[in-house]
Amino acid sequence: MLPVKKNGCEFMLDGKKIIFSGMQATGTLTLGNYLGALKNWVQLENEYECFYCVVDLHSITVRQDPAELRKRARALLTLYIAAGLNPEKNCIYYQSHVSAHAELSWILGCFTYMGELSRMTQFKDKAAKHSGNINAGLFTYPVLMAADILLFQSDLVPVGDDQKQHLELTRDIAGRFNSIYGDVFTIPEPYIAKQGARIMSLQEPTKKMSKTDENPNASIYLLDDPDTIMRKFKRAVTDSDNRIIYSDEKPGIKNLIEIYALSTGKGIEEVEKEFDGVGYGEFKMAVGEAVISLLKPLQERFRELEKDKAYIDGIIKANAEKANYYANKTLRKVQKKVGFPERIR
Ligand code: TRP
Repeated sequence: MLPVKKNGCEFMLDGKKIIFSGMQATGTLTLGNYLGALKNWVQLENEYECFYCVVDLHSITVRQDPAELRKRARALLTLYIAAGLNPEKNCIYYQSHVSAHAELSWILGCFTYMGELSRMTQFKDKAAKHSGNINAGLFTYPVLMAADILLFQSDLVPVGDDQKQHLELTRDIAGRFNSIYGDVFTIPEPYIAKQGARIMSLQEPTKKMSKTDENPNASIYLLDDPDTIMRKFKRAVTDSDNRIIYSDEKPGIKNLIEIYALSTGKGIEEVEKEFDGVGYGEFKMAVGEAVISLLKPLQERFRELEKDKAYIDGIIKANAEKANYYANKTLRKVQKKVGFPERIR
């Protein structure tokens, strides 16, 4: 593997483009996360150098139960592997194991304006939701996210709509820093998936399926058992028209068709034909069955991995080392640029 120089940092790895994404260990991953993101990420591992970070530093911007947080972070990391991401090719690691995130975040905070941060819509939403705990971390959350991305000289960042504003800010901060100190950071772009599915809530099909929905019937969680999956699909909100056609006027049915198509690998028209004249009740059962069989191998793999503590620990250790190695390249360069004294070795 030949290291490549990227912005003066000895970077990677056959000259591949770098993809970085972070995920919070709040809630459990949903079918939407899987069909809309994870499933596609599995195909990126040969073309790109991928980093997927479990962003536990971000998680404590809202109050967490420590044991719960630890458990959920590990489950998330394990689920990524169970979903097919090869942990030897994809660097799946905990943010808290790479101190460069926090260090770069401090530096970038000195290049970010209060005004910019107060315009972040997610901050405004979260501040409203957690009005008893509007802490400084919640305010500077996007700076830490910028540090995550810029540390790895990332070219592409797969993000949902809700994170676009944060990515825009990341680009502004990077550009500002570069204009003062020269080319230090790669300016990241959003990664738009070739086949980007947007799975909607089963209860409010005009809203995205979310891992933190208050109504558990709105989301299929990746570890839901078959009975639960079937029950949720049976209760899915549809309409009174009783025809299975793919149309924006029928968001509930449209979403179910999409889920069925993606779960079975069939095309939309093929699905419409298959269920022509079939009632909603029967269709919902078919969707449930399809999702149950789609998730079965993932769930089995998760149970196996969960038991193999030594294997997962090994992955955690090796990937933290890899992430530290590359993150520190960028951090050292930044520290030098801003005028911190050289380390004596
Ligand atoms: N803020 C993102 C979210 O809530 C998570 C995140 C943190 C992230 N750091 C990131 C996403 C870096 C992409 C890149 O979904």
